[in-house]
Amino acid sequence: MERLRVGVIGAGTIARVAHLPHYQSHPDVELAALADLDALRARKLADEFGAKAVYTDAQAMFKQERLDAVSICTPNRTHAELVQTAFAHGVDVLVEKPLCSDAEDAERLVAAAEGAGRICMVGMTHRFRSDVQAVKRFLDAGDLGRLYYVRAHILRRRGTPAGWFTDKSKSGGGCLMDIGVHALDLAWWMVGMPDLVSVSGQLVQGIGRYQTLMASRWQSSDAANQENQVFDVEDFATAYLRFAGGLVMQLEVSWAVNGPQDDALKVDVFGDRGGITLDPPVFYGEHNRVLTESRLSVEGNDFYRDEIYHFVDCVQRRQQPLCTVQQGQKVVQMLLAIVRSAETGREVRL
Ligand SMILES: NC(=O)c1ccc[n+]([C@@H]2O[C@H](COP(=O)([O-])OP(=O)(O)OC[C@H]3O[C@@H](n4cnc5c(N)ncnc54)[C@H](O)[C@@H]3O)[C@@H](O)[C@H]2O)c1
Repeated sequence: MERLRVGVIGAGTIARVAHLPHYQSHPDVELAALADLDALRARKLADEFGAKAVYTDAQAMFKQERLDAVSICTPNRTHAELVQTAFAHGVDVLVEKPLCSDAEDAERLVAAAEGAGRICMVGMTHRFRSDVQAVKRFLDAGDLGRLYYVRAHILRRRGTPAGWFTDKSKSGGGCLMDIGVHALDLAWWMVGMPDLVSVSGQLVQGIGRYQTLMASRWQSSDAANQENQVFDVEDFATAYLRFAGGLVMQLEVSWAVNGPQDDALKVDVFGDRGGITLDPPVFYGEHNRVLTESRLSVEGNDFYRDEIYHFVDCVQRRQQPLCTVQQGQKVVQMLLAIVRSAETGREVRL
């Protein structure tokens, strides 16, 4: 079988950490090209990971390279147009999260993917964690009985990312779009992706623009705006979401908060026969009318690798990925409903 010709757009942090190394190591992939507005950065990473060609214009890359697949690793606001361009050239897509930050764009992308018969996977990395998959087995088996409450949170004490993330014109939103998307997507997917009925949300610009010393942060590779000069987004978000069937979700997200540092994504699910927590992975039940706690014993995995390899597999087999564009659209709709509720100060019904 011929190797897949894969391109990557965006030679930034996530491309360097996740996409490039795992395309490079995949035996069925030829890393054909890397595109970034910054030619120097693209050249440097292309040399490091063995990408054959370098472009400063993604259009030119699509025109010249006859790619089979592409990863889109650019700021959120650029995703929609780049995905459309890839489809126009008959290329399958792995787009970083969130799919996009606009409801009409999301709708157009779903229609375009379906119309073109293209695979469009959204990079919901946490779904590929082995502990998540273990916990999901309990949920899928019905071990918790009727699910009625799920709590999802990711609360950083000091973790505002440096770079375009705090500039709404580039990111589409603050901590909700950046890490809230992981928490919301994961919890929603774990409980079976129920339909959203209503949302009440609140976005806060609290202490995210801190001057704290010696606190590490996710760094954009882009020097522009590195010091968070533009900061017009929330750094704390919370929401209460009601789903069809009666399940409710509480979501809490922060880039910075005066509470304990807890960068881990936490999801706790409660049902009438049992409950389960993701971190640590423990099943809470009752046996012979005695309370029990069962610790799940799970080896960690390289979930970025598993995510990239899954995408390659889906492209080769023409199979729908674990995180589809349709699911990506629903997550964007939920995020935007939270924003709408925060802006209007009212519950939003869908
Ligand atoms: N799945 C995860 O765990 C995870 C983690 C971090 C970031 N992300 C996502 O990955 C994406 C990129 O984040 P990052 O931290 O790597 O950002 P980054 O700023 O480090 O890199 C972005 C790169 O894109 C380039 N770029 C911007 N517009 C471009 C365009 N039109 N064409 C070509 N190149 C362009 C920039 O020059 C920069 O090099 C975001 O959508 C982010 O939400 C996902």
